[in-house]
Amino acid sequence: MASFKSALSLLLLALPLLVMVASAGNFNQDFQITWGDGRAKILNNGQLLTLTLDKASGSGFESKNEYLFGKIDMQLKLVAGNSAGTVTAYYLRSEGSLWDEIDFEFLGNLSGDPYILHTNVFTQGKGNREQQFYLWFDPTADFHAYSILWNPQRIVFSVDGTPIREFKNMESIGVPFPKNQPMRLTSSLWNADDWATRGGLVKTDWSKAPFTASYRNFNADKACIWSRTNKTSSCSSSSSSSSSKIPGNEWLTEDLDTTKQGRLRWVQKNYMIYNYCSDIKRFPQGLPTECKS
Ligand SMILES: *[C@@H]1O[C@H](CO)[C@@H](O)[C@H](O)[C@H]1NC(C)=O
Ligand SMILES: *[C@@H]1O[C@H](CO)[C@@H](O)[C@H](O)[C@H]1NC(C)=O
Repeated sequence: MASFKSALSLLLLALPLLVMVASAGNFNQDFQITWGDGRAKILNNGQLLTLTLDKASGSGFESKNEYLFGKIDMQLKLVAGNSAGTVTAYYLRSEGSLWDEIDFEFLGNLSGDPYILHTNVFTQGKGNREQQFYLWFDPTADFHAYSILWNPQRIVFSVDGTPIREFKNMESIGVPFPKNQPMRLTSSLWNADDWATRGGLVKTDWSKAPFTASYRNFNADKACIWSRTNKTSSCSSSSSSSSSKIPGNEWLTEDLDTTKQGRLRWVQKNYMIYNYCSDIKRFPQGLPTECKS
């Protein structure tokens, strides 16, 4: 009896832990290391992943699952100190020559100089939709959450819950939107000192190598996993508009409320350093269609 009781209390103690582990995601379960010959490592029982870069090579990983829409969070801690020349890319991407892609890229800098957060959206193999930002914190001092909301109406990039960019579905005015090609979550750390820091002026200081970026708290609980073999989505086999009515799937129709719209404007006003839609010189034939709406 006593042993039954203690077993029961042990179980009760362990239960919340199990639940926590399940919802936090596990790098061993959810990801595979794709390159870098030992420079990418999964640590702490799958709770932490690190990528490193040295003079010989960078490294990378990708999700085992492919997603067709999702609300995906990850916390990243970027290369600290003199990270000039390094780029940490974190993105969703589909396959083929007419691929779709939703990009976060972090361009390193000299100690004390700001990182650039570079974003882009590719549809059917065409990008050229860059927006760049400084951050309102030092992204190397601690972990911060970088999130992608991708549903049939919009793509929202967020940092610590603050939206920094929205790309709306503008198919009605002829702008393609990613909605048919499942994407894999991918990340890599590599050397890009030919362009990354001050446009390539500052080179990577290899005496500071290896450079390390860390990842934790992956969460894709709200995402539709695409099965290639069955050609079905875990959200529903029916249309996405009806599956959004399933409890837990509200994110499939999520919009930016007025508070979030205010935050988005705050970031765009104070932290955006480049917007392709304002770059008139780059598009002498006229700005892309989506910039005019
Ligand atoms: C690096 O710092 C310089 C000087 O403050 C700044 O102009 C640049 O935008 C920063 N970021 C990158 C990635 O070059
Ligand atoms: C595909 O469908 C089969 C049969 O319904 C099922 O057993 C299997 O788990 C499915 N595979 C995936 C990856 O969803």
